[in-house]
Amino acid sequence: MRRAIYPGSFDPVTNGHLDIIERGCKLFDEIIIGILVNPEKTPFFSIEERQEMLTEILMDLSKGGCNVRVDSFRGLLVNYAVAQEANAIVRGIRAISDYEYELQMALMNRRLEPSIETVFMMPAETYSYVSSRLVKEVFQLGGPIDALVPPLIEKRMKEKMNKV
Ligand code: PNS
Repeated sequence: MRRAIYPGSFDPVTNGHLDIIERGCKLFDEIIIGILVNPEKTPFFSIEERQEMLTEILMDLSKGGCNVRVDSFRGLLVNYAVAQEANAIVRGIRAISDYEYELQMALMNRRLEPSIETVFMMPAETYSYVSSRLVKEVFQLGGPIDALVPPLIEKRMKEKMNKV
């Protein structure tokens, strides 16, 4: 059983994240989406909202045979990965600019827990510029985000901002 954790803030989940999950499903028997509970950040969506939306969005992938579930965690990622009996951590790399930070994290995680491998995956080029941070910025300034996030996310973002 090859189990991977796909950790992140997912605030909100983007089409780039979903692309990585879909690709990860081909490599792993199970993927656990681990949403980081970060008390220091003020998120757009609460942990509960992100967990609920991701679960709904991933239903189609699950029906298609992708073994994926959504969870949240606090503290060190590697401790969570060990507790979940995972073999790997999946991270998406969009451009070389992501690499430096991701490499640093991967090597630190390896030092903390040598039994867990980090696997870097590349999303489709279409999503190479998509990030949760930019999606929020564009949305808050009134720009269109329909091709960047699943329809449910756009709907919930509009609801939150009282735009519907
Ligand atoms: O989507 P993000 O915000 O880029 O994800 C970052 C995340 C959640 C992968 C990273 O912040 C993390 O793993 N946090 C947990 C705390 C931890 O283990 N820190 C040491 C990492 S080297």
